[in-house]
Amino acid sequence: MLQISDLVKVYPNGYRALHGVSLTVSEPQIVAIIGSSGAGKSTLIRCINRLVEPTSGSIALDGVEITRLGRRELRAMRRRMGMIFQEYNLVERLTVMENVLSGRLGTVTFWQALRRRYPPEDVAMAFELLERVGLSGRENTRADALSGGQRQRVGIARALMQKPDLLLVDEPTASLDPKTSRQIMRLIRELAHERGTPALVNIHDVGLARLTADRIIGLKEGRLVFDAAPDALSADALTEIYGEEDWSGTVDDADRRRGKGDGEGDGAGTAREIEAEAFAG
Ligand SMILES: Nc1ncnc2c1ncn2[C@@H]1O[C@H](COP(=O)(O)OP(=O)(O)OP(=O)(O)O)[C@@H](O)[C@H]1O
Ligand SMILES: [Mg+2]
Repeated sequence: MLQISDLVKVYPNGYRALHGVSLTVSEPQIVAIIGSSGAGKSTLIRCINRLVEPTSGSIALDGVEITRLGRRELRAMRRRMGMIFQEYNLVERLTVMENVLSGRLGTVTFWQALRRRYPPEDVAMAFELLERVGLSGRENTRADALSGGQRQRVGIARALMQKPDLLLVDEPTASLDPKTSRQIMRLIRELAHERGTPALVNIHDVGLARLTADRIIGLKEGRLVFDAAPDALSADALTEIYGEEDWSGTVDDADRRRGKGDGEGDGAGTAREIEAEAFAG
């Protein structure tokens, strides 16, 4: 369980990016964080693993206060959080398999990693995850030879390799086409649900957030202004979060897609379908 209370972030230049955000995630749910550019979404996600140092307030994962951890404890805590970024952060000259296995760094010793000797159970798990994200057969491909969608699949497999207690996901689909974006979000949703891992996902695409999240949080100028189920995200709520605009298209579109069953439930395809999609994209 993640419990954030009264989180404040003031950057060194005096800019107040978070004004006391409180938020509890007590179930393994997908929580989408939406809001205008500059609202504080990335700051919030990064405070949780302290890539950004919180100024005040409390962040606790399963009762452990993260803001007070020393360097070594913080490293151990970060291993419990899987991070998936927009920019993938793969090691370009390493293979898909090596990138995924690097998710276990920190549990594997330096020398094991240097000689690329990973425990057989880690290798087995990596194969399994790669199959699950649709990249079977691509284990030995170098990361720099993959498309954006494939790279993000590697990023997801790597994050899950850590067996995280929490997934932190910052704009996983920002540089992907709409179809690949949906596939990636569906994959994150499925895998997180399967494993019972809660996920916080920053996402700009409101339609996609409505389609894939269990809960939506709206940030506006560093304050939490919306926290409810996707269905409650009305045109009025969107105005509150983003400001005045004609939202009817966005709201209807998501309703229609939902009604049609596209992406409904855990709806995504079989491993084989996902694989076909991965090769196509
Ligand atoms: N290192 C920093 N120093 C000063 N201000 C910063 C710093 N990093 C971010 N900010 C400011 O804090 C605010 C929140 O930034 P943040 O990156 O969290 O927004 P965001 O909601 O993720 O936006 P986007 O949707 O564009 O990614 C912005 O106004 C930004 O300019
Ligand atoms: Mg951001």
